[in-house]
Order: sequence, then C-alpha cells, then structure tokens
Amino acid sequence: MESLITDAKEKFGKLIQQQLERVERMKNQEDFIQYDQLDTIVIGVVGGDGIGPSITHQAQRILEFLLQSEIEKGKIKIKEIQGCTIENRAKVGKAIPDDVLEELKQCHVILKGPTTTPRQGDPWPNIESANVAMRKELDLFANVRPVKVPELGIDWTFFRENTEGAYVLGSQGFHVTEDVAFDFKVITTQGVERIARSAFDFARKNGKKKVTVVTKANVVKTTDGKFLDICKEISKEYPEIEMDDWYIDIMTAKLIDEKRRTQFQVFILPNLYGDILTDEAAEFQGGVGTAGSANIGKQYAMFEAIHGSAPRMVEEGRAQYADPCSIIRAAAMLLSHIGYIKEADQLTQALDICTITEKKLTITGRDTGATSGEFADYIMETIQTLS
Ligand code: IPM
Ligand code: MG
Repeated sequence: MESLITDAKEKFGKLIQQQLERVERMKNQEDFIQYDQLDTIVIGVVGGDGIGPSITHQAQRILEFLLQSEIEKGKIKIKEIQGCTIENRAKVGKAIPDDVLEELKQCHVILKGPTTTPRQGDPWPNIESANVAMRKELDLFANVRPVKVPELGIDWTFFRENTEGAYVLGSQGFHVTEDVAFDFKVITTQGVERIARSAFDFARKNGKKKVTVVTKANVVKTTDGKFLDICKEISKEYPEIEMDDWYIDIMTAKLIDEKRRTQFQVFILPNLYGDILTDEAAEFQGGVGTAGSANIGKQYAMFEAIHGSAPRMVEEGRAQYADPCSIIRAAAMLLSHIGYIKEADQLTQALDICTITEKKLTITGRDTGATSGEFADYIMETIQTLS
C-alpha cells in the first residue's frame, strides 16, 4: 500500500510541476499575432481521417477560389499537411507525429478535418486525441462556436476553454489498483482570465449585452468555483455587460426552454461542459454537421468541423457523399479571423443560400443526395451571383 501511495504522489507531483510551468509560460505570453503585418499568411490544411480528407479538400477548393488573387500575389500561401492520420499516429504512438507538429508550427492558421480519437475497444492504441493535443501544443485556448437559428431567435456564441479543465489531464489519469482509478482536472487563474476576456471582448465588440458563465460550482467547488470567481472578477472590467451564471445541468434544460433560450447571447464554459453544451446547441441548427468551430490562441489558430471522422461512411464507400458544411463554415471563420471579412461574408451568405433559402442540392450522406464536390461547386457558383 505504501508503495502505491508513493507512486501516486510521484505522478501527481509531475502533474503539478507541469501545470506550474504552464502558468509561468502563460504569464510571459506575447500578445495576439497581427495578420495584417505579415508578408505572407500561411494556411495549413490538414485532411484528418475518415471522411476528413474528402470534405476538407472541398473547403480548400473554396478557399483557393475566394483567395485566388491573394495567392497569386503571394500574400496567402496554402500548405497541405499530410500524415495526421490515425494510421500514422498509431504507428508512431503519438497524438500528433513530430514532423506533423513541426509543419503545423510553420503555419499561421490551420483548417483541420476530423481526426479519429481512439476509444476503448477500438483496434487503435489508446493515444491521446489529436484535437486535444493540437489545442494544447499550439495553446489554442479559446474554442469559439457560434450557433444561429434566426427563425427561432437563437444567436449564441460559445467560448469553451480549450486548454485546461477535465480535458488536458484526461490522458494522464491512472489506475492506482485494479479497483481504483483517478483522473485530474486543473483550472488556473491565467487560463480563466484569458478565456473570460476573449468572451467579454467579443461581447463588447459585437454589441452583446449579456454573458453567461456555466459551471457546476455548487458541487465541484474548487476548480469550477475558481472558474466562476475569476469570470466575476473579469466582468467588472465590462460594466456595460450583464453577467449571469448557471449550472450545467439546468443549462442543458434551459436551451430547450423556448422562452428562456432566446435571452442567452455569449457563454463561457470550462472545457467539458463546453464540449457537451455546444453539441446540444448545434442540434437546433441542424446538427453538428452544420456547425464550425474556431480554436484561437495568441500565436496560432485552428478551424475545424465539429463532427467526427465517420469511418463507417468510408467503409461503406460513401465518403464522397459526406456533408462538407461544417468544415466550410470553419473555412469562413478562418477567413474572417485573418481579416478577409468580405470573403468570409460572401461564403457565409452562400452557405445560408445553399442550405436554407434556396437549397437546390441536398446532402443525404448517400447516393440519394449530392456529393461534397457538387455541393462545393454550388457554393462557388452562388458566390459568383453575389454582388
Ligand atoms: C469536439 C470533439 C472533441 C472534443 C473530441 C473529438 C476529442 O468532441 O471538438 O467537441 O471533445 O473536444
Ligand atoms: Mg465535442
């Protein structure tokens, strides 16, 4: 028993050390990169697994179409990054192979298709999720997920903390004995301050009047309690914005309360609650296949589809029928993030026309509907009709 406890202490000690070092890095972090001051903005494109390469390729075509003159001028460079596949990750036993990580770090922004996260019972070794690893390695702390359903009066923007909470130490839990297992969750002052400021700054810039913090601070008192306290502190810097706070359980219920839900505007959540609530929220908009997601850090930013890699579609030979809307929305968010607002608006408008108002093509995921390539063509034709 003594030696089990000594082992456990040692493991916990290492986690504490890592997190203390991380806090020092956060304290010394530079400010946000300014894209307009770069000679060339490098956009990395990572296909991922399963249906990923096929839908990501279509989003890349659209980016190349919209940015054609910028690419010709050398202002934008699009760089395809291979090797972030589950086969390759399993082979080298890493969430992100070293050479892939090096290439990612040479980009300014990244468009990423879904990557398979191994789970128990899969044929893959139990490596960490490539998403989680990329967010951690590139310090992409703000996971921004907008959900809009105008006809229901829904216009929400979620700010999910991406680099701490129950997630970052998720692959570092351990089994003390056959019967006892531990996971860890960490919250830091610097980590909460930066996500809270991002959310309040967004609210201020976009004329939003309310920011809602979601935790379970009544039960998970230490870490969630700290998260909530720091959000309250930061909110004092934004006196014109009202902050309220809810617990995650009742919040999941209130999103289906038709009267209440239209009052919410901007949310701040720790990692795990943000993961759960954004899937629920996306469902009102037509499912996770329709939502895009931005992962923003001070140096890098990554834009991704919020759905999985759907290996079954590939096994059944249906990859070309996968819905590319989520990754195309992610591409629109990428454009706006690097300052190409006009192109981002055109793409968002075209997406709305093609998926809501005009809907000349439908995607069913099978040969009864359009392929992702046909859909991308439809988007580009629609952009051409916009003035
Ligand atoms: C998401 C996904 C990922 C997450 C998985 C694939 C690790 O569900 O982006 O929300 O939980 O963050
Ligand atoms: Mg999720």
